[in-house]
Amino acid sequence: MPLKKLSKSGVEFSKRVVVVNCLVPLAMLAFDAARGGLGANPLEFITHVTGMLALVFITLSLAVTPVRRLSGMQWLAVHRRTLGLFGFGYAVLHLFAYVWFDKSFAGAAIVDDIAKRPFIAIGMATVAILAPLALTSTNGMIKRLGGKKWRLLHRLAYVAGIGGVVHYFMLVKADTRLPIAFGIVVGALLAFRFADAYVTPRIDALRRSRVAPE
Ligand code: HEM
Repeated sequence: MPLKKLSKSGVEFSKRVVVVNCLVPLAMLAFDAARGGLGANPLEFITHVTGMLALVFITLSLAVTPVRRLSGMQWLAVHRRTLGLFGFGYAVLHLFAYVWFDKSFAGAAIVDDIAKRPFIAIGMATVAILAPLALTSTNGMIKRLGGKKWRLLHRLAYVAGIGGVVHYFMLVKADTRLPIAFGIVVGALLAFRFADAYVTPRIDALRRSRVAPE
């Protein structure tokens, strides 16, 4: 398969393709905002778009390792960080849209809203989980923390994925099909990683012990 191995310049090119594609929705949103094309309810439009993009990019970043494992395309690993960072970036924009345009930075109104609508608290907890992951995503931080600790910390990405899905599921009023679909995808990715890390090595060890001569 020609895509299994990419040259260094191929990987660099793929990085640029991913970054440009992650930026396209932001550029489109800015373009729509500049020409006054955000519809009758701009706040709802921005909240919808940024929330959806955050969930999509977080889900895509969680999909990188399973797809890499199944396809053998090891170079895909370089895109996990980019996709996760864009997921976090869109979640921050989503948070800003809420705190700034919806609540005008009124702390009391936000606290009141958290008490009344628990999905807001789940959303905030999700952003709070994503923040240390984004801050420790640099190569320097990987070195400083050590691979083992870093990997352990970054398992929280799954908790963030689940948090995003639960937040979305709790806020939709009637049609829950899309949040459920996201839930199935995130659940399947989590199940794959669990099987890959804990079940497959045990099955392999069992097989090896059975074929080993006495
Ligand atoms: C600081 C944290 C957050 C706050 C305050 C917040 C707030 C909101 C609000 C007010 C809405 C609109 C609810 C409505 O239509 O009634 C919303 C929608 C949404 N949020 Fe969040 N959110 C947060 C974090 C997140 C995160 C981290 C994700 C994803 C990982 C996310 C994904 C979504 C999605 C997918 C929607 C639905 C968009 C739609 O279809 O309209 N949110 N959020």
